[in-house]
Amino acid sequence: MKQDMIVILDLGSEENSALARQIRAMGVYSEIHPHDISLAALRALPNVKGVILNGGPNNVVDGKRIDVADEIYASGIPTVALDHPTDRCRTLEAARLREFLFETCACEANWNMPNFIDDQVELLRRQIGDRKVLLALSGGVDSSVVAALLIRAIGKQLVCVHVNHGLLRKGEPEQVVRVFREELGATLIYSDSVDRFLDKLDGVSDPEQKRKIIGAEFIRVFEEEARKLDGIDFLAQGTIYPDIVESGTKTNKIVKSHHNVGGLPDDLQFELVEPLKYLFKDEVRACGKELGLPDDMVYRQPFPGPGLGVRCLGAITRDRLEAVRESDAILREEFANAGLQGKVWQYFTLIPDTKSVGVKDNARSYEWPVILRAVNTVDAMTATIEHIDWAVLDKITRRIVTEVKGVNRVCYDLTPKPTGTIEWE
Ligand code: XMP
Repeated sequence: MKQDMIVILDLGSEENSALARQIRAMGVYSEIHPHDISLAALRALPNVKGVILNGGPNNVVDGKRIDVADEIYASGIPTVALDHPTDRCRTLEAARLREFLFETCACEANWNMPNFIDDQVELLRRQIGDRKVLLALSGGVDSSVVAALLIRAIGKQLVCVHVNHGLLRKGEPEQVVRVFREELGATLIYSDSVDRFLDKLDGVSDPEQKRKIIGAEFIRVFEEEARKLDGIDFLAQGTIYPDIVESGTKTNKIVKSHHNVGGLPDDLQFELVEPLKYLFKDEVRACGKELGLPDDMVYRQPFPGPGLGVRCLGAITRDRLEAVRESDAILREEFANAGLQGKVWQYFTLIPDTKSVGVKDNARSYEWPVILRAVNTVDAMTATIEHIDWAVLDKITRRIVTEVKGVNRVCYDLTPKPTGTIEWE
């Protein structure tokens, strides 16, 4: 193991993540664990040099004040309890933290991505041995980084399943196959399930119903692929630290539940492999970059699970879905040309299930409008509108109405969140 580790035990603080980040910023790897971890479990973690008891306002659970097990206090592992700094004593707190890390615990500042990857590779090899791991590879940042890490650790023992549900952006399924199968040599099962999903969605216009169908069908396809395979013991997931926090810890309430592959049937029994579960999003991207994934995969903008399905409003039709996909590709290309890639948090197109009158080639047309959306946000709970240059909007509009079949009009949505959500469905 190359990295030293400081364990933060969550005694009801609301600043566990901030503390973990502060320790990592000082060059020491840190993980957050529940307050009731046993000494045996703590000792099983690699290279623990010290423990921080991180108290805070949520320290009463079920009417009782929580504490760590006596055996941890008696273990001889260096331990400190941190109280919560006000702004005035934050510097002092940092000095005390530094002293604890580097003097009391004698940590080295050896947290960096190459060391993290080397340690994870070793841990994954220990956990998995010569057995096999299954991964649903969507092509999103988290599942792609998990795939790349597992390929480094166990190569062909990883089996990736990429389900193309027909609602991905232009070029995405092809990119997943090219990068993982051809460049990284992964065992990749490509499931072309486009017709299956679109048939199920035929005539369904309610957004929540569409989401449910897409989610349930995804699990069904994945399960069918899994049943065809022999001797799989593990299921890998791209869970990252914010997913765990938002799903609720022992001291924090649920913000929203995350189901990475939630809902798989009980008789498919797998042990979980979640090598990114202590990383924050920016660290996941840094990990992907270090593992050699292309920038447009690592710095990809967020994309909803139901994909273009919730951007082809109302009942999805194949021709309108194609128009969403083509117009989205033009928008992305022109944003990249204008240097806006990475500067705007999320941008995409959508098409309502309505038409308007226009003129094209000197004749009346009756076609769809494409709506452009470009927003900035920190946490997706609120969002502001990006001011895009008229020249850029003008170019996008001209390209969409000439290049995308069935479209005669382009609109730019100026609504912040609230009152609009980012997506229209
Ligand atoms: P809204 O539309 O709620 O979106 O303002 C906030 C963020 O969440 C994404 N989003 C989803 N992501 N499954 C997902 O995985 C979904 O069903 C879903 N709906 C919205 C949206 O793209 C935005 O980034």
